[in-house]
Amino acid sequence: MSTYTVRALPDLFTFRDGARIQRSGDWPRRRQELLDAIVPLEYGGLPPKPHTTRGEELHTSAVRRLESAHYITCRVVAEFDRPFSFLLYLLVPPGPGPFPVVLNGDACWSYVTDEITAEVLRRGNILAQFNRVEIAADVRDADRSSGLYPFAAGTTFGALAAWAWGYHRCIDVLTNLEFVNAAQIAVVGHSRGGKASLLAGATDERIALTSANDSGCGGAGCYRFQGPNSETLADIVGRFPYWFGPSFGDYIGRETELPFDQHFLKAAVAPRLLLTTEALGDLWANPTGAWQTHEAAREVYRFLGVEARIGIWYREGGHAHSQADWETLLDFMDWQFRGTQPIFQYDQNPFAEA
Ligand code: GCU
Repeated sequence: MSTYTVRALPDLFTFRDGARIQRSGDWPRRRQELLDAIVPLEYGGLPPKPHTTRGEELHTSAVRRLESAHYITCRVVAEFDRPFSFLLYLLVPPGPGPFPVVLNGDACWSYVTDEITAEVLRRGNILAQFNRVEIAADVRDADRSSGLYPFAAGTTFGALAAWAWGYHRCIDVLTNLEFVNAAQIAVVGHSRGGKASLLAGATDERIALTSANDSGCGGAGCYRFQGPNSETLADIVGRFPYWFGPSFGDYIGRETELPFDQHFLKAAVAPRLLLTTEALGDLWANPTGAWQTHEAAREVYRFLGVEARIGIWYREGGHAHSQADWETLLDFMDWQFRGTQPIFQYDQNPFAEA
């Protein structure tokens, strides 16, 4: 028996002017309203787009032990009135391509083992990685003097939005590489990196598949549905105020007054592919709340006639971006991009009462 309350989530289908969505053609306008409600208030808005982005190849070498892949180091250069740059690393399988891509921003954590890498490549995908903390350090920077911040004076975006912006700049580069299948780019991240990958996917329609692992509060979680021992708005803004927009903390204790919940972010991915992977023992990341946002967003996918494009997957165990989580994403990609039979079930409700 549940001992906590499920509060009604803000409606995804009613426009701000009170009109109801009638047909799938109405969705782009409602999607934009969802983004307008959540991105400025929660994340402080996105950093500005640069005038141009270019990729500079710095080095290429062969890596035999990893499926004979090519390892390419590339500099992503975003041109404002002066250039801002960070590094992007690609492992490309042998053959002419074009290949689907898995783009991960969590290079700072270095949890992608050789075994995971080999599996990504073996299935014919490029593994692209960057280090999101090059764009905004994961430390409190009260005067916004490092990373991307000085390039965007007068802005209020927090670190999660800066990290999402990093995904977008990598997409600028990836979509111009002839060995990349630009229509099959997936983004993924873990935990705070998953909050960023979800935000990146919600706000950029070039991203074919959005995935987030154990992303919890500010990610796939839910402010109106806090499972036992899950991280709350007060917890997260108390410890990581620099991840968010400056006014988000005003809603501590008033979560039901938020004009959105995290299902807005998931729904903004629709009708594109969305997979969230969760761990049942990772209570801090609110796996039960993630089910609530999934169910709510799934209604949009259903309405658009693409229900199979949204998935959620739960495993036993705790907070980690494990081999099993990666294999689930790769399987989902194979199913959606290559039409292979899925191994996993992507809509299991582990909380259903027997
Ligand atoms: C902390 C934080 C979480 C975050 C996690 C992580 O636990 O409270 O919100 O997801 O770090 O990034 O591992």
